[in-house]
Amino acid sequence: MQELKILSIVGTRPEGIKMAPLVHLLKETAEIKSVLCLTAQHREMLDQVLSLFELKADYDLNLMKESQSLTHITARALEGLEKIILQEKPHMVLVQGDTTTTMAGSLAAFYHKIPVGHVEAGLRTWDKYAPFPEEINRRINSVIAELHFAPTDLSRKNLLREGTPPEKVYVTGNTVIDALKTTVQPGFVFDDPFLRGFDFDSSRVLLVEAHRRENIGRPLQEICLALLDLLQAFPDTFLLFPVHKNPAVRCTVYRYLEGHHRVRLLEPLDTFSFHNLMARSHLILTDSGGIQEEAPALGRPVLVLRDVTERPEALAAGTALLAGTNREAIVKMASDLLHDSSAYAAMARAANPYGDGRASERIRDVILYYFGRRPSPPEPFSPI
Ligand code: UD1
Ligand code: UDP
Repeated sequence: MQELKILSIVGTRPEGIKMAPLVHLLKETAEIKSVLCLTAQHREMLDQVLSLFELKADYDLNLMKESQSLTHITARALEGLEKIILQEKPHMVLVQGDTTTTMAGSLAAFYHKIPVGHVEAGLRTWDKYAPFPEEINRRINSVIAELHFAPTDLSRKNLLREGTPPEKVYVTGNTVIDALKTTVQPGFVFDDPFLRGFDFDSSRVLLVEAHRRENIGRPLQEICLALLDLLQAFPDTFLLFPVHKNPAVRCTVYRYLEGHHRVRLLEPLDTFSFHNLMARSHLILTDSGGIQEEAPALGRPVLVLRDVTERPEALAAGTALLAGTNREAIVKMASDLLHDSSAYAAMARAANPYGDGRASERIRDVILYYFGRRPSPPEPFSPI
């Protein structure tokens, strides 16, 4: 029987992390020939992930430019991906999540009538400008996709509400939890010398990661001011902040936070280090999507630095709170948790609303079922 050729497209750090377990599984599957193409919308941050998870790309469009525009990424990715799609003629294209690479990958495949499988489908805020441009990238992916790998039942419902045929939607869990299962170890030793020498017992670590386009400017300044207020109010806290490579993010974060004696600004950490740092932190403050999904699995409370989130499952599970980007509101919410140990303990519970570590396996099995290589689809993911 002919091998199924599956072309996976990856552009940024989170796509790399979330596609790594799936791409490895596809490579190990006898019926499948897996081809990996990078747009390299991110460069250093993606290379870090590829080397850590031992992923080797077959193609690399190398399109990142400093302070790139959405139009630049979209246009370059569409043109570059078209050539690869024409050359490889895959049976299916896989894209992950909500980045501009993902949207351009779906569109490039659609123009050549190649079916698209969308990993992490159906997340919605219903606000087209938050997150920007990811909410609309997701909706475009959903209109184009042939198979929708919804991480949770809520994301499945979002897709059905938009008229997506139910037989094309599969609840798989999120592959980020598959990746997380391989990274956190109790005796982990950090490569970074500062983290290796850090005494996690003597301070309460506030771990911060913020980079969203809609937060750049005033909201990120408010976030930094709130962090300074918290450091002043709680002398036993220490702020660790691996700063995203986006120059607009770095400029604000370094201007407000550099030089404080209880702040360490770090370069983006490799994902093993970052996950183990999350596991040792007291409180996580972030506008990142992936971190919102990982923190509940590690039993770490999260304050979400956004006005809306497309990942409300952790809010419902009681392990995350929506803090927004207003200085006073962030300080109030974080202070309540830093003062009140029972409120903190109620949030610091492990929960797994996003996955059980078997999402890649389900996605692979749905693909095989779709192409008639399995008699039935896998059982859906259901949180315990
Ligand atoms: C992108 C995604 C966002 C995702 C984020 C993950 C879009 C529109 N945005 O946002 O959904 O949450 O990635 O981190 O797809 N840069 C580097 N080196 C790197 C990566 C970035 O120097 O390895 C700098 C470059 O100057 C680049 C800028 O950061 O132009 C912005 O990168 P870009 O991918 O456009 O946007 P992100 O904010 O990273
Ligand atoms: N992450 C990482 N190193 C860091 C910060 C984050 O490896 O210094 C990981 C994190 O664990 C998560 C992913 O990056 O898996 C999230 O990516 P990002 O925040 O860039 O994008 P988003 O999820 O917001 O789209």
